[in-house]
Amino acid sequence: MILGICGSLRGISNTNRLVKKAAEASGWEFELIYLGDKTIKPCTGCSSCMMNQGICSIEDDMTEINEMIINSDAIIMGGPTYFMDINGALKDLIDRSSATFYREIGPYYKAGMPWLGQRPMAGKPAIIITTVAGGGHDRAIETLRVCVEEIYQMKIVSKLAEAIRLDDVDDLPDVLKRAEEAGKKLGEVLIG
Ligand SMILES: Cc1cc2nc3c(=O)[nH]c(=O)nc-3n(C[C@H](O)[C@H](O)[C@H](O)COP(=O)(O)O)c2cc1C
Repeated sequence: MILGICGSLRGISNTNRLVKKAAEASGWEFELIYLGDKTIKPCTGCSSCMMNQGICSIEDDMTEINEMIINSDAIIMGGPTYFMDINGALKDLIDRSSATFYREIGPYYKAGMPWLGQRPMAGKPAIIITTVAGGGHDRAIETLRVCVEEIYQMKIVSKLAEAIRLDDVDDLPDVLKRAEEAGKKLGEVLIG
């Protein structure tokens, strides 16, 4: 199952439509999470997940989302560019997903324990997507790359950083085509 993370909180969102387009084009079964429908509080940095087998001290929708992340075969992660970086709602999800790293670890820190935990998504393929009005998308896509490639240790098969101006993605066939191509490539990578 491909997990599509639709990080814009807007109902009709350019980013979210590109995530959906890529997921549909993959030819694989997929599930979309719309962050606008979810309650995801910010990580407080309490370290409870690190010391307690990955159990987060906050009870909200992230418990279920972390299960979906771990159980997915691939991720399409999209978020709009806000102030030249990814938006806060998606960053909150990413921060809270660190609980997935500590399932086998704890309950108490001992010398030799892997501080940075495990990476349940390592080696799985991913697409990262951001949209922007005019500029700042290079930095936003780099944030997504670092999170997904360097921290999750996933393999990024496509990156989309699209300047939409004040248009609508549905009126931009080239942009839709790039999302479709990214999705097809992901589908091919999953076949192996
Ligand atoms: C809080 C906020 C900050 C934004 N910052 C930028 C920015 O730094 N550069 C830019 O060109 N557009 C910026 N925008 C515009 C959005 O990046 C753009 O409209 C994007 O396509 C929205 O994505 P969505 O349709 O998926 O919600 C900003 C919009 C908001 C609401």
